Formats: sequence, C-alpha cells, structure tokens
Amino acid sequence: MRIKVPGDKSISQRALILSGLARGESRIRGLVPGGDPASTANALRALGVRIPPHSEWGEEARIPGLGLRGFRTPEGYLDVQNSGTGARLLLGVLSGQPLDAVITGDESLKKRPMGRVTEPLTAMGARFDALEAPGRLPIRVQGGPLTPLEYRLPVASAQVKSALLLAGLVGGVPVTLIEPGRSRDHTEGMLRASGVDVRSGPAADGWGVALAPPPTEIAPLDLDVPGDFSSAAFFILLGLLRGGDEPLVLEGVGLNETRTRLLPVLLRMGGKVGIQNLRGEAQGEPLGDLVVEPSELVGTEVGGAEIPGLIDEVPILAVGALRARGETRITGARELRVKETDRIRALVDNLRALGGDAEELDDGLVVQGTGRPLSGTVRSFGDHRIAMAFGILGALEGNDIRIDGAEVAGVSFPGFWELLEETRSKGRPPVAAQAPASGQGGVVGRPPVITMDGPAGSGKSTTAREVARRLGFHHLDSGALYRALTFALLNSGIPEADWPELSPEELDRFPIHLEISGGRLLVLLGDRVLEEELRTPEVTSRVSPLSALPAVRSWLLEAQRRAGAEGGLVADGRDMGTVVFPDADVKIFLTAQLKERATRRFLEREGREPDQEELAVEAAKIQERDARDSARAVAPLKKPEESLEVDTSDLTFEGQVQVIIDHVKTLTDK
Ligand code: S3P
Repeated sequence: MRIKVPGDKSISQRALILSGLARGESRIRGLVPGGDPASTANALRALGVRIPPHSEWGEEARIPGLGLRGFRTPEGYLDVQNSGTGARLLLGVLSGQPLDAVITGDESLKKRPMGRVTEPLTAMGARFDALEAPGRLPIRVQGGPLTPLEYRLPVASAQVKSALLLAGLVGGVPVTLIEPGRSRDHTEGMLRASGVDVRSGPAADGWGVALAPPPTEIAPLDLDVPGDFSSAAFFILLGLLRGGDEPLVLEGVGLNETRTRLLPVLLRMGGKVGIQNLRGEAQGEPLGDLVVEPSELVGTEVGGAEIPGLIDEVPILAVGALRARGETRITGARELRVKETDRIRALVDNLRALGGDAEELDDGLVVQGTGRPLSGTVRSFGDHRIAMAFGILGALEGNDIRIDGAEVAGVSFPGFWELLEETRSKGRPPVAAQAPASGQGGVVGRPPVITMDGPAGSGKSTTAREVARRLGFHHLDSGALYRALTFALLNSGIPEADWPELSPEELDRFPIHLEISGGRLLVLLGDRVLEEELRTPEVTSRVSPLSALPAVRSWLLEAQRRAGAEGGLVADGRDMGTVVFPDADVKIFLTAQLKERATRRFLEREGREPDQEELAVEAAKIQERDARDSARAVAPLKKPEESLEVDTSDLTFEGQVQVIIDHVKTLTDK
C-alpha cells in the first residue's frame, strides 16, 4: 500500500514567514494546512502580509512579501495558539521591525520557556516585557535597530537558532552561533535559497552557524514543501508493527539529514525501512519514498548526539518500544519536558495506564517491551504527537485504546485519523494489482543487472570485476564515483568543513562521469581518467562521511542508473540492490567475518599479513566504518530483500566467483 503524508510543518512555518519578508511574490506548493501554520499565517496577516486562507493552500499559495522591515503594528494581540515555532520565530522577526506588538498563545504555549529567545535578542538591542510571568507569553516586543550577535546556545534548538538568524536578517546585522548539537537546518537552507550568505559546519563543542552581514532584501521563494518526516514517523512504526507481509510505502517524504535520526535507530532495532527514489529538490531538501516492511523489533538505547535529530519522534519511538522485545532506554532528552506538554511525563503516565512497564528518568524514559494486548484510556494532554503516537498503538491488532483529546492531531497532521483508518482497514491488494516483486525477474530482451552489496573488505569489488569479466558484462564500482568526488573536492579549494552543505548546483561544477572505453567502464573527471588517485589515504579517510550526505547520494544516483540502463552490468557498492537498482535481476550480498575482512584489507594495502596488534587496529577501523555505513540515514548498508548472501570467509576466490555465476545462471537462464 502506498500513502502520502502532508507537507513538513517546520518548512511550512518558515516558508510563510520568509514569504512575508521577501520582496516580490513567493509561490509555495504543499504547505500543510495544520493548526500551527494556520496560526502563524494569522499572526502574519495581522502584521499586514496577504496570505490566502489555509483552505486554499491546496495547489499553490502565492504570497506577496512586504520586504524585510515592512510589517505594520497589529491591532490586538498576535495569538499563535499552540505554535512554539511561530512564537519564537516571530519574536526574532519582530525584534528588528520598528513596531510594537504582543505575542501570545494557548495555555500550553504560555507555559513554555521564551527566555531562551528573548535573552539573546535583548543582547541584540530588542526590548521585551513579559505581561504575565517572567520569560512566558504573552510578551510585548518593541523592535528597532539591532546590533551583531555572537552567542552560544545553551540547548540545541532550531527555534532559537532560527529566531536569532531572522533577527539578524531583519536587523541587517551579522549573527554567529554555536549550538551544542546540530538541530534541524531548514532556516539556513531557505535563507541560502533566498540569496543570504549563511555558513555552517562543525565548531568547537558543537555546530556553528554564521549569518554574514545580510542583504537589504531577499528574493521570493519558489518552493515545493516535502512530506513531513515527523508525520511519516507514525506510519513508519505502523508499517513495522502491523504484522502481515505487505510493505507500506510512504511517498515523497523529506529526508533532510537533521531530521531522520530515527531511521538508524529503527534499523538497529531490526526494523526494515528502505529508501527509494531519493531525489534532491530545489531548496536543497532531499526527499524520497520510504519502504517499510513488517519487522520484529528489539529494544535499544538512544541518547546523546542522536537526540536533536529525532526529538519530535521520541513519542512514537517510546510507544513503539512497548511492542519491541526487551528494554528501550532513551536518555539525554530533557528538552521533551518543555514541548507542547511534558512529553516524558505524558508518555510514562499513558504507557502505564495501558498496563505497560515504563520508568521516568529526569532526561528520558525506559520502556519494557511486551506482547500482551493493551487496553485502556490515554490522554493527549493537548499534545498532537502524544495523541498520534498512541493512535498508532491503538491501531495494532489486539489493542483497544481510547484517546482523550485525539482531535489535537490536526496541529501538525490534518487528516491523520482518516489516513490511519484507511491504512489499517485496507487489506492486501489483489495479486494482479501488486507491483512485480523487485529482483530476480529480468526484463525480456536485455542482459541482466547484477548487484553486489557488502561491507568493507568483503571482497565485493574484486569479485564483481571477475564476475563481470566472465559474463562479458561491465563492472560498475560505485565506490569509485564517491571517491572521484572526494578527490575532486580535495583539489577544489572548498574547505572540508563546508562539504556537508554542498548544494546540487555546487556539485554540478564537478564533471564526474562514466565512460566505456576498451570494454571497460571508466570514471572520469573532465577528460582525466581517475584510477590510483582514488585509492590514496587522503581520499580513503574522507569518502565515507561524504558518501553519507543525502545531497551527494542523490547527485550521483543518475550516473549510476544510466550505467545500468542497457543491462549487462555488475554493480558493487552498499546500496546497489536497495536504492540504485531496486529492480535488479540478481542481487548478491557478500559478507565475511570481521577478522577475515581486516586481514584482507591490510594485505591489500601493505602487501603482507598483519601481526596481532595491526589486525586489531584494522578490525576496529573496519567496524567503525561498518557502523557508520549501516547507521547513516540515507541508503544505509543492508542486505537487500531477495538477495543471495554469500559468506566468503571460508571460500577461495575461485569458489565464491563460481557460487555467484551459478546463481546468476539459475535465475536468468530459463
Ligand atoms: C522546530 C524545532 C524543534 C521541534 C519543533 C519544531 C522548528 O524544536 O521540536 O517541533 O520548526 O524549528 P527545537 O527548537 O527544540 O529544536
């Protein structure tokens, strides 16, 4: 079954605000008409921005901007209801506007801390007056000329970061920030797309973001809002836990790497979630389709640097953990206490109300999995994500859960309950209507595509080359393309710290392509054939993090697919059978024991056998690399469905080539 979740809430909110600040008409497709963006839109209307009613956001919303300091003094309070993002970002924007306004919200939002934004904004010269309680809404803002800011955020927060960047933009002053962890970066991406110079990269003790002295106007937006990963997360868990064997495909989900840390966590819990049709969109926000297969989950530990990238997914993760085998421990997530409700408390209370075993920690919670049917009444506490998380649990076979305050889901996910009902009630489609199973099929009349995936040192490149030679096929070493880009970047003068932010346009500067010459598929940079340049230690040490970047992966996708368009290809890599050629005719997954792989790697490089100590060092390096490749959010290394797993630890080279050739023959020589 295939479903689509609504547009991203964070991006929608930013799109509305930046459209109001742009000079000219912005065009935005896919804005989510949820409660939060609708409240932010109302506040912007009161400030003079002409935004069409949210019932008309369907196709495309056109919003004429007022310029950076063109807002007018509103009549009455600006009420952003439940929207923390709306409140905080507008506090930033209004700080630099020559006007006087009061921002307020609903009872939940009035309890949430605003001092984290008003304190640094006060340092920039804005004036605030909390009308009811210190550091809480309603707050009067008196904006005006601002001064530059250098600031270290006490907690990783995209809302605080965005508020300060927007204040810098509107106030015309540079802003330099360091966050203790890397929070979502949609504001940075959208500002760049509007022509503003924002840099970011690793910094001492965290993640640095710097807004250069900004321009006096910004260009309007032309934007397709991707599906909201945080909304998709609920259906990912449904797809994993609902049993049966039908995959659930979520189409067009935003896969910005600052949002998708849930994926590696689910993978290590045994969840089968793959990415297909990964593509980069105009504003640098990658998106793709998620393929979720029913899986048996096991408990895990989640914490530390993982938290900012999955902060909004903790409710569904904790609730899903009740259906995993063993214990799940989530720590380092104290921020959850100041979300729409105290989410740690709400989760623990509700899990216990259903008879679950959950323990509250100061900065997280511990959940014990159970297979027992769950029944009882839970409360949303006015929090959309709490309501939806328990909604998913209630939709699983055997559970009977009532949710008080379920309607609050519409804050971020209008239509959630309808989609849940539809997904739950739809059975397996009739056989004739199903898409052909990927793999093993064969397109009549063209030679097969064979994929060979596997971890570092499994021997996939040499094996793939030999298999290709014997079959008279071409060999695509996909790793060579990533190495070619690493080589090109090392020689480009672009500092390594900026690589994570490379846009597709910047990547387009590098003329990397594949060419057939003398029966071989060669990797070229312009006219230069790259070979031994690709194996230097400088390239080797940098290729893995580079290849984890979604923008890089989607940029190289087309070149790889083109190489397989005519068939007759043996492609080796880490996502050949899962992402690049999901419909390959034959899929092989090559493995070998760690010790064996470490020995091979060492031998290949040094030309001799390693001693004990050298072997241990090599094994540790390989293990680290495996972990990184398997845990990356996009196209992680995993065994493709329907692949033949070949463990080469005890096979001779000739033996393993033969096993594979025999398998290819069985599948394709009908
Ligand atoms: C958001 C940032 C996150 C997140 C919230 C939306 C945003 O909060 O929890 O739902 O759109 O910037 P932080 O400010 O704590 O990162």
